[in-house]
Amino acid sequence: MFDSGVGGLTVADALRRALPGATLRYLADSACAPYGEKSPDFIRARSLTMAQHLIDHGARLLVIACNTATAHAAEAIRAAHPGLPVVGIEPGVKPAVSATRNGRVGVLATKATLQSERFRQLIERHASGVQVAAVACSGVVAHIEAGDLGSEALLALVQRYARALREAGVDTALLGCTHYPLIRPLWQSALGPGVQLLQIEDAVAQQAVRLWPLEPGGSNPVVLSSTGDPAVLGRLAREALGWEGFALETVLVPGTGIEPVRPR
Ligand code: DGL
Repeated sequence: MFDSGVGGLTVADALRRALPGATLRYLADSACAPYGEKSPDFIRARSLTMAQHLIDHGARLLVIACNTATAHAAEAIRAAHPGLPVVGIEPGVKPAVSATRNGRVGVLATKATLQSERFRQLIERHASGVQVAAVACSGVVAHIEAGDLGSEALLALVQRYARALREAGVDTALLGCTHYPLIRPLWQSALGPGVQLLQIEDAVAQQAVRLWPLEPGGSNPVVLSSTGDPAVLGRLAREALGWEGFALETVLVPGTGIEPVRPR
């Protein structure tokens, strides 16, 4: 599985519980995070490179543990690897629409996810008759990538984005980026007790179980690898998820040749 960085650990945690017999290789593209502020071409090219790296390391099933990469690259990855089961993640608009009581739903996600054609179609397909307030939470992922799960500066950002949803009167909000559940308590307290917060990592893990092509094995080695410094990845796995007994690696993955668009 891969993510732009450490956020996909939230999916990895669900996956380990759902598929305890599987060998897991996690690739964090922390050298290029955040994806959410970059161009669709960059996200697609980089995601294809991540997928290829994992396939070269023997992947039999690929989880795109990133809403942003799923939005811009899932189709390209499936087209490039037709025999490979691929599981993506996208904001859980459908469950949120079922859960809302006042017909107002909030989506917290990256700019690139919210600007994608896939997100537009998701809303068109599942959210008719419901008001959707979508907020691009620029800056949040950079804090989490730096291992910051609770600074004043992060709190101020979370409060700003939560305020937009409160003003829209939503009673249900989605964490539409896999980094965000790592700071779920901050979101919940900024949104207030009247807003139910949804995340769909468990549903993604269940889909992986359905597509898993092998018999469950006896051992389940876990390798956490990163294109950047793997220290934060390891620390979050240990401290936020309570994992132990995994290997940590830095990997060198060639560039895509497409210049990332730097946030302004
Ligand atoms: N964790 C990713 C997602 O689910 C992307 C975060 C980013 O790199 O901007 O969208």
